[in-house]
Amino acid sequence: MSYLSEANSAETVNGRIGEATDPRLRRVMTSLVDHLHEFIKDVELTEAEWEAAIGFLTRTGQICSDTRQEFILLSDALGVSMLVDAINHRTPEGATESTVFGPFHVEGAPKLPMGTCISADGKGEICLYQGRVLDLDGRPIENALVDVWSDNADGFYDVQQPDLQPKWNNRGVFRTGPDGTYAFRGIKPVSYPIPDDGPVGQMLAALGRHPWRPAHMHFRITAPGHERLITHIFVGGDSYLGSDAVFGVKAALIADFEAVQSPTEAWRTAFDFVLRPI
Ligand code: BEZ
Ligand code: FE
Repeated sequence: MSYLSEANSAETVNGRIGEATDPRLRRVMTSLVDHLHEFIKDVELTEAEWEAAIGFLTRTGQICSDTRQEFILLSDALGVSMLVDAINHRTPEGATESTVFGPFHVEGAPKLPMGTCISADGKGEICLYQGRVLDLDGRPIENALVDVWSDNADGFYDVQQPDLQPKWNNRGVFRTGPDGTYAFRGIKPVSYPIPDDGPVGQMLAALGRHPWRPAHMHFRITAPGHERLITHIFVGGDSYLGSDAVFGVKAALIADFEAVQSPTEAWRTAFDFVLRPI
């Protein structure tokens, strides 16, 4: 038996874990305590800093609601969400890379015929998005569900402005046919700041970081026999590509948007998605 001291603090805490503890929980918590204690020793945390940290985490919890998840935002802004994504989706050669899911997906968006425009508020420049959903051998995947969502031309998702935007604005689900193709119209998205009126925004400001994300269209693609793909395509040339507040950008996800003369759209972009098997 030993009492906790500066020298033995992590071992003492970890030594209390019960024998019957789930092995994975033991592994995760032991490492967490080791690293946390090491960090506190490294920076020699002051009591005022400890109090500030507790206050920050308390406010982070207090601002959470059914429509606001500040802890996920914190994870995003610290690069943790993208690190977990990277570890869990080590993409094989040829498969489309994943990126952060974000807090603005809504389950149950309308299933729409190919080519439909998902923008319902009349704002923004319309873009035709088209491409194929393929397997690793380049074969088209039929019956893939392509669930897409973006902000509107003012930089807000419909759920952020329920009284201003039509329900399901800039959202839709499309089902691929036998040739694996998808096509829909939406706006050419604009860059927008992540919610920065809470503790995460204060943290970013204190660190001299901006809250902006480069313009992107979200995709969640599911297909029988394949791993679900959660990703974006980013608008090439966006000025925030190199400084995304949540570190979601990958070079392979940046798409060209071509200006066109067409009665139905001002822009076109083509992007194929390659899913890996389960
Ligand atoms: C988004 O792209 O919708 C998003 C991702 C992470 C944090 C906030 C927003
Ligand atoms: Fe987004």
